[in-house]
Amino acid sequence: MVSSPPTASPAIASTAEPVHAGDQIDAIRRGAPVNQEIAAPLMARVENADIKRVRAYPMQPPTIPHSIDNYQIDKNSNRCLLCHARANADKFQAPPVSVTHYMDRNDQFLATISPRRYFCNQCHVVQTDAKPLVANNFKDIDSILSEEHDKKAN
Ligand code: HEC
Ligand code: HEC
Repeated sequence: MVSSPPTASPAIASTAEPVHAGDQIDAIRRGAPVNQEIAAPLMARVENADIKRVRAYPMQPPTIPHSIDNYQIDKNSNRCLLCHARANADKFQAPPVSVTHYMDRNDQFLATISPRRYFCNQCHVVQTDAKPLVANNFKDIDSILSEEHDKKAN
């Protein structure tokens, strides 16, 4: 007879939300006492809606609106460029990388992607549906300007 694996006891509900433990960020134990095992939260899912997201400021590298599982980037091949290279963009209906991706550090334009822009994930990242661990009240410049404009108007 196969014995079932021991279940974590006492059962503490899994929660992706951080529990406030004296204002500390306790991302790993999530407030559970050290002698208790807590069920792991569900893994976050990569957002794959194919809808471009707003940029927080003009030079922000846009976040990736599709999943990139198993997209290989190494010395010999760059999966991202299959679709995002200027030459292929029409075939895949992908936005081609912008001109900055062809510039070296002296602002000279190269024929192919600049080595410093080769490893796309250095700057571009996917987003998941995970709940943020830390609150964020960032406002972009457009909302600040329109708030000031409204204040003056009153
Ligand atoms: C199979 C083709 C394909 C591959 C491979 C691919 N993309 Fe994309 N990408 C697209 C398409 C099409 C879009 C337009 C939005 C959409 O349909 O998802 C896009 C959108 C984007 C955007 C958003 C641009 C913007 O202006 O908001 C970024 C950033 C991006 N991709 C980065 C990457 C990176 C980094 C990789 C490699 C890890 C990659 N893509 C691989 C097809 C691809
Ligand atoms: C060093 C950081 C960096 C790297 C590496 C990088 N990018 Fe970007 N990318 C940016 C920034 C910043 C922007 C927005 C401003 C601009 O266009 O330069 C951008 C813009 C883009 C856009 C939107 C272009 C547009 O006109 O809207 C796409 C698509 C993109 N990158 C894809 C890629 C792909 C694919 C790679 C890998 C081959 C890559 N990037 C590598 C920083 C980077």
